[in-house]
Amino acid sequence: MSNVHVMNHPLIQHKLTLIRDKNTGVKEFRELVEEVALLMAYEVYRDLPLKEIEVETPIGKAVCHAIAGKKLGIVPILRAGLGMVDGMTKLVPAAKVGHIGLYRDPETLEPVEYYCKLPSDIEERDLIVVDPMLATGGSASAAISFLKQRGAKNIKMVCLIAAPEGIARLQKDHNDVDIFAAAVDEKLNSHGYIVPGLGDAGDRLFGTK
Ligand code: PRP
Ligand code: URA
Repeated sequence: MSNVHVMNHPLIQHKLTLIRDKNTGVKEFRELVEEVALLMAYEVYRDLPLKEIEVETPIGKAVCHAIAGKKLGIVPILRAGLGMVDGMTKLVPAAKVGHIGLYRDPETLEPVEYYCKLPSDIEERDLIVVDPMLATGGSASAAISFLKQRGAKNIKMVCLIAAPEGIARLQKDHNDVDIFAAAVDEKLNSHGYIVPGLGDAGDRLFGTK
């Protein structure tokens, strides 16, 4: 069973409250999503391997640790995943970014792929799929399947809000993928929206409604 990590750090919870508020405008929404992604990245990157290196301080030699050059890839699911990319890459600027374009068919709620551009060496990278919403889990599951078909082995899923249905779907389809979320909400409504959620993440990020 994949692990679910719910991040209840006060800063994350405070910012998520502002993100959920329907009176939060596009500019603030975008800034907050980036900030929460950065705060979540701190925990998501917790298992990055370290190597020992020696540096000279003004006083003497110190045996220290540095990140051991692990190759990372951030994969936003378009569109809304784009809002989390800058936060996720700020602490690890050398990470490469691949894009998967999926939209949910409003009738069937099934994901439809319209774009895919990934780093050429994804099989060597630890990949972090980002999307603010894990609702039915169809989009995340399809994106992870594409990555596995192209050779990816080590994948994490990072979202802001997950529905129990989305978590169950990912655990069924990809039980090797750890899920990081700032909150797990109550349920989905009949249109596949997370309740209480935050509404349509893409529309709120890009001001398209
Ligand atoms: C939203 C969201 C996820 C998906 C989640 O994207 O950003 O990608 O829905 O739903 P699921 O778990 O049921 O698949 P949407 O299809 O609205 O596209 P957008 O990001 O372009 O707005
Ligand atoms: N996609 C969104 O943007 N919001 C939801 O609540 C569900 C899917």
